[in-house]
Amino acid sequence: MKTKIFDNLNDLNEDFTLWLKELLAKKETLSIALSGGNTPKSLFKYWATHHAEDIDWTKIKFFWSDERCVWPTDDDSNYKAAKDNLFDHVPIPRENIFRIRGENDPYKEARTYQDVMQTELETINGIPQFDVIMLGMGEDGHTASIFPHEMNLWDSHNMCVVATHPKTRQMRISLSGQTINAAKNVVFLVTGAPKDKIVKAIIEDNENAQEKYPAAKVQPESGNLIWYLDSYAGRELSKQK
Ligand code: 6PG
Repeated sequence: MKTKIFDNLNDLNEDFTLWLKELLAKKETLSIALSGGNTPKSLFKYWATHHAEDIDWTKIKFFWSDERCVWPTDDDSNYKAAKDNLFDHVPIPRENIFRIRGENDPYKEARTYQDVMQTELETINGIPQFDVIMLGMGEDGHTASIFPHEMNLWDSHNMCVVATHPKTRQMRISLSGQTINAAKNVVFLVTGAPKDKIVKAIIEDNENAQEKYPAAKVQPESGNLIWYLDSYAGRELSKQK
C-alpha cells in the first residue's frame, strides 16, 4: 500500500494521471471504474484541460464504482459528473462507456451490471477484474456506496449490490467488496480535512478500523493500493513525521 500526499489538487491530479498513463502504455485497453461524488470532478476537469490530446482515450473502458439511483440527467448522477466534466470534452467512443443505469429498477440493474462486468472484463474465479478501481471516501468512512450501517453489503456474494444512503435514504448501486478487492489496482482519491482522522485510523490501525469503516476493508488481493490524499485529508498522517 502506498500513501501520496499533495499540497494542491493540480499536483495530485497530475501525479495520478502520470501513474495511469504509465499503466495505459503497457496495455491495449484499460478498464477503469470511476468513483463518484465531488472529488473526481476536479480530476475529470484536469484531464479535459490538460490531457485531451496526449491520452489515447479510445483505449480506456469506463465503468463506475457506484451510482445513485437517479436519471443520468440528474445533477446527483455520477455518470453526469463524468459526462459534463470529461466525456463531453475528450474523444471517448460511446461504446467505451458502461454506465450503471440509475434510472432502472435497482435490483434488476445490479444484476444487469454484474453481467456487463462479466462480459466486458477478464474474470478471476468468476469475479470481474478491473485494471483500476477509483474510490472516494465519505466523512463516515464509506466507500463506493457501502456505508457503515450496511457493512454486510461489503461481504455480499454478488458483484454489485443495492445500498441506501443513511441520511437521504437515496438508493444506490455499488460494487461489492469482492469486486473491489479483485481489482489489479485500487486508487483512493480523498480530499478534505473532515476525513483526516478516519484516513489515519484506516492506514495506521487498519484492523480496528475495519470494524467501523467500509473503506478500511479495501485490501486488494493484488496488494496494489494507493491512497492519493490532499494535505488536509493526509494531515494526521504527516504529523507522525
Ligand atoms: C458517491 C461515491 C462516494 C464518494 C464519497 C466521497 O457516489 O458519492 O462514490 O463513495 O466517493 O462520498 O465523496 P466526495 O468526493 O464528494 O467527498
